[in-house]
Amino acid sequence: MASVDVGIGLLGYGTVGSSVNRMLVESADEIERATGHRLRVVRALVRDPAKERPFPAGDGVLTTDFETFRDDPEVQIVAEVMGGLSPAGDYVRALLGAGKPVVSANKQLIARDGAELFAAASAAGVQLRFEASVCAAIPVVKVLRESLVVSNVHRVLGIVNGTTNFMLSSMERGGSYADALAEAQALGYAEADPTDDVSGADAAAKMAILATVAFGSRVRFEDVECRGIEELEPVHVNAAAQLGMVIKLVGIATLLDGAVDVRVQPALVERSHPLAAVDGAFNAVMLQGDAIREITLEGPGAGGVETASAVVADLVSVVGTAGTGFLQNDACWRELARLPSSEWRSPFYVHLEVSDRPGVLAHAASRLAAHDVSIAQLVQRLEDGAAAIELVLHRAPFGEVSAALREIAAFPEVLRPPFVLPVIAERGL
Ligand SMILES: NC(=O)c1ccc[n+]([C@@H]2O[C@H](COP(=O)([O-])OP(=O)(O)OC[C@H]3O[C@@H](n4cnc5c(N)ncnc54)[C@H](OP(=O)(O)O)[C@@H]3O)[C@@H](O)[C@H]2O)c1
Repeated sequence: MASVDVGIGLLGYGTVGSSVNRMLVESADEIERATGHRLRVVRALVRDPAKERPFPAGDGVLTTDFETFRDDPEVQIVAEVMGGLSPAGDYVRALLGAGKPVVSANKQLIARDGAELFAAASAAGVQLRFEASVCAAIPVVKVLRESLVVSNVHRVLGIVNGTTNFMLSSMERGGSYADALAEAQALGYAEADPTDDVSGADAAAKMAILATVAFGSRVRFEDVECRGIEELEPVHVNAAAQLGMVIKLVGIATLLDGAVDVRVQPALVERSHPLAAVDGAFNAVMLQGDAIREITLEGPGAGGVETASAVVADLVSVVGTAGTGFLQNDACWRELARLPSSEWRSPFYVHLEVSDRPGVLAHAASRLAAHDVSIAQLVQRLEDGAAAIELVLHRAPFGEVSAALREIAAFPEVLRPPFVLPVIAERGL
């Protein structure tokens, strides 16, 4: 087969962009064998062309002028590896409008402006792909959109933020939240300002994208209920260990009776569950569906080379499916209602701190029973006239659990507001 050169434009030539170029150069023969095409970076847009780069771009490739980049007829497919909402969003819109397919590694852009960008791609008849925007090297978007297209996925569980997973693994070995954050920052897993990671915002953007793809209905970043790991204390981590569980920051997307719930929050995960074994900065996504039962994908969820591998895979997919109409739109074919948070069901863990007086436990159990919530497991510890009570509750609607806990919080014996997290169990709760 005759080889055809395909010109690639990179919006950004930083950690990911330079890795994409290196991969296209070093794997050119493999890509040609697979596609019959040689992909070559012909332009890259940057702020400062004089900056030293880990893998230098070719002569004359770097430019600071977007119009030159957009209007270059040699740029046939674009990889957006610049990050941020602006100007990256305007550039992607302009390039799609100019009829150039785009692949993006930018979760914030896809999670916030996906609807508009896909409309622009559809109008221009070109592809917009975004594998690298979620979990870097793990090919979860491709698996959901292509391999599982008819499998009715109704639940997605994900550990999709490596920084917080590293911190929680570190807290499990002992130490406070502050110690874990300092360690993650020293090792380069957390940024100087870690807010995006520890607040759950980074994971929420990824879960919005995954839920959209899994359920075929638009879920935006703002639709995701989000709680970070900042309030976790060693007492919760130790209680989880006593109950045979670990704490993870979990994204949970549920499709129930035609309504969607997407949330990111710390959860207690049973030790026997596949997500419990995901250690350190790794990511994992578990997909549950009618035909597939469950599939778990695990791997490195960040890093320049790892992210670049997903960008290159998307470029290769665009080349392989150009002109076929394959995956040209974002496959959002229905509007689904939001499941009211009060109706979202899960087993729950509750941590209570009470003064050590007779009858408190029975009183708390009676309030839970009044809301039809039953206790699966209970551990009580006494310390200096106070008692810590750790409860695992059977699956129940969040609204009923919250109502019972509001009543319990009003008891004079309850020393701190009850602390509640969902539990991810293999079976039986
Ligand atoms: N790094 C990772 O581990 C990772 C993982 C998953 C996803 N991602 C995503 O991949 C994308 C790129 O990340 P990265 O780590 O490669 O970022 P990076 O190293 O900061 O690179 C950003 C590149 O974009 C260029 N750029 C930024 N703003 C620009 C502007 N206004 N005009 C022109 N050029 C501009 C920069 O130019 P200069 O070089 O001249 O400054 C730089 O080359 C982001 O969306 C990120 O979220 C990264």
